[in-house]
Amino acid sequence: MKSPALSVQLAPHNKKGLLLSNPVMAASGTFGYGTEYAEVVDIQRLGAIICKGTTLKPRPGNPQPRLWETAGGVLNSIGMENIGIDALIREKAPLWAGWKVPVIVNILGESIEDYGKLAKRLDKASGVSGIEVNISCPNVSAGGMEFGANPKSAAEVTAAVKAKTTLPVIVKLSPNVTDITEIACAVEAAGADAISLINTLRGMAIDTKSRKPVLGNVCGGLSGPAIKPVALYMVYQVARAVKVPIIGCGGIATASDALEFIMAGASAVQVGTAIFTNPCTPLDILEGIERFMKKEGIRNLTELIGAAL
Ligand SMILES: Cc1cc2nc3c(=O)[nH]c(=O)nc-3n(C[C@H](O)[C@H](O)[C@H](O)COP(=O)(O)O)c2cc1C
Repeated sequence: MKSPALSVQLAPHNKKGLLLSNPVMAASGTFGYGTEYAEVVDIQRLGAIICKGTTLKPRPGNPQPRLWETAGGVLNSIGMENIGIDALIREKAPLWAGWKVPVIVNILGESIEDYGKLAKRLDKASGVSGIEVNISCPNVSAGGMEFGANPKSAAEVTAAVKAKTTLPVIVKLSPNVTDITEIACAVEAAGADAISLINTLRGMAIDTKSRKPVLGNVCGGLSGPAIKPVALYMVYQVARAVKVPIIGCGGIATASDALEFIMAGASAVQVGTAIFTNPCTPLDILEGIERFMKKEGIRNLTELIGAAL
């Protein structure tokens, strides 16, 4: 059998579009700026790279410790340590401009205006193929509640970004909500070209010896295999509620995990925590998907997207 068709269009209604050669991406915050992995992984074979979360000003991040291993997962409270948008545009984007793999910039702001400013800065930057909007971030003017916790603020952030850029815009949903479909519908109505989910689930660990929280920030985000069933069900629910393409993420470590997300309605997947154990995981997953399709006689990935809905 011929090699199956794996390419996916993640922004069909955007003029620029976001065409990936295959559906396997590296998740934000787990693959740096791509450059860090270039010597160990053939990064150009990835579907896309989502770079580290980027803010208007550089940020030093949260106090240590920031990472803690749990059963089947990891708690992190990195606190968005990053170089800031100016350095990203000056130092990283010119390198990406020469790459085959599309790089998508993950952004976060402390206010709606911040998101608009970030989008405007990225709009003309060469080497940037799209924007992923992290809405799992405290809205300072609303008493610190996450933008993504409420359909109104999630939609406002989406509209602010869309107003300032012609790049494809992916909105990344927070799982720390009561009804994820409500938020997904709100960001779709506000113009999101695609939706990615999920970000990490809030959690903590306590050191029984010191009788204190382990993480310097007390609370962290849980990721890894432990969250996969939660993420999968959220993707399934959102896929039944929206028409825009969905990118599934959360505990994906094998091709079989990725296929579950695709069958639940995801057009593409992101691999995060699994990269820490083996940076080649995304490419292993890609090869596994291809093998599965050949074995099952599937010519085009589209035959599998949403197969379980
Ligand atoms: C150390 C670490 C840093 C992360 N940083 C970001 C970030 O900057 N922006 C973002 O949207 N998500 C960030 N995430 C969330 C991941 O992109 C992903 O949504 C989440 O970890 C679930 O996927 P996984 O179980 O495959 O890791 C981070 C996750 C980890 C573990």
